[in-house]
Amino acid sequence: MASDAAAGPPRPLWDLPTRLFHWALVVLLLVSWFTAGENMQLHRWSGYGVIGLLVFRLWWGVAGGSTARFAHFLRGPKATLAYARTLGARSPSDGAGHNPLGAWSVLAMLAVMLVQVGLGLFASDIDGLESGPLSHLVSFDASRAAAELHETVFRVLQALVALHIVAIGFYGVWKRQNLVGAMITGKRPFQGEALRPAALWRLLVGIALAALVAWAIAKGLRF
Ligand code: HEM
Ligand code: HEM
Repeated sequence: MASDAAAGPPRPLWDLPTRLFHWALVVLLLVSWFTAGENMQLHRWSGYGVIGLLVFRLWWGVAGGSTARFAHFLRGPKATLAYARTLGARSPSDGAGHNPLGAWSVLAMLAVMLVQVGLGLFASDIDGLESGPLSHLVSFDASRAAAELHETVFRVLQALVALHIVAIGFYGVWKRQNLVGAMITGKRPFQGEALRPAALWRLLVGIALAALVAWAIAKGLRF
């Protein structure tokens, strides 16, 4: 990938929890995908992992490092359109975090993944042999409907992820900007306020929350 053309030396942009969240999510989503219909025990376990990651990311979006916060990167339609008009320019996007368009795709991916795992929890296969841990809370018909939707929503998620990867490629090739390197090392050159990392206790609360929710769901909320 082309080197970064943005001004200045690389500076910390993404904190470690955000980066770990991202790459763990990629691995677990792939596991969920390839185990679907093949190894349902592993499918459920990786699904609980995804749930934990999503819970953590929601918490981190309000309590994490500055660039991980939703309030930091979500912008209104005006700013998003204004940014979209500059997309064709061959200069790097050197804002301090997700750009306004990317921010909406991040939000869309998180929302669709939440729906995806939510439906999986209530899903049941045609003979009722394989099911999600909360399927006992709904009728069999509802559980089958959840399974159908679970498959349909997965196509939507695949489309969003494909768009995500094409967009990252576009930044690499057209704008000569290595965003992937920044998601690995945490650093790239950018303009604006430096990353303000979050205190350790916030990380610990996030991990505890994620583990608690994933555990309670895996138990089917039966204690
Ligand atoms: C993001 C994570 C997930 C992805 C990408 C995913 C994807 C899929 C796909 C593509 C299928 C269709 C398999 C087929 O019939 O060929 C499926 C089925 C299923 N998934 Fe998931 N899933 C995820 C999370 C979960 C979770 C968290 C649960 C519950 C713990 C779950 C439970 C099920 C069940 C019970 C089926 C069988 C439904 C049927 O055979 O009609 N999934 N999943
Ligand atoms: C299962 C597939 C994937 C999913 C669900 C996914 C999801 C996400 C999410 C939710 C974010 C926001 C990060 C945050 O603020 O927490 C993100 C950012 C990012 N992802 Fe992915 N991702 C996937 C695959 C990939 C792959 C394969 C690459 C590398 C080619 C990649 C590169 C990036 C980069 C570079 C960013 C930061 C973008 C920026 O600078 O604004 N992602 N991704």
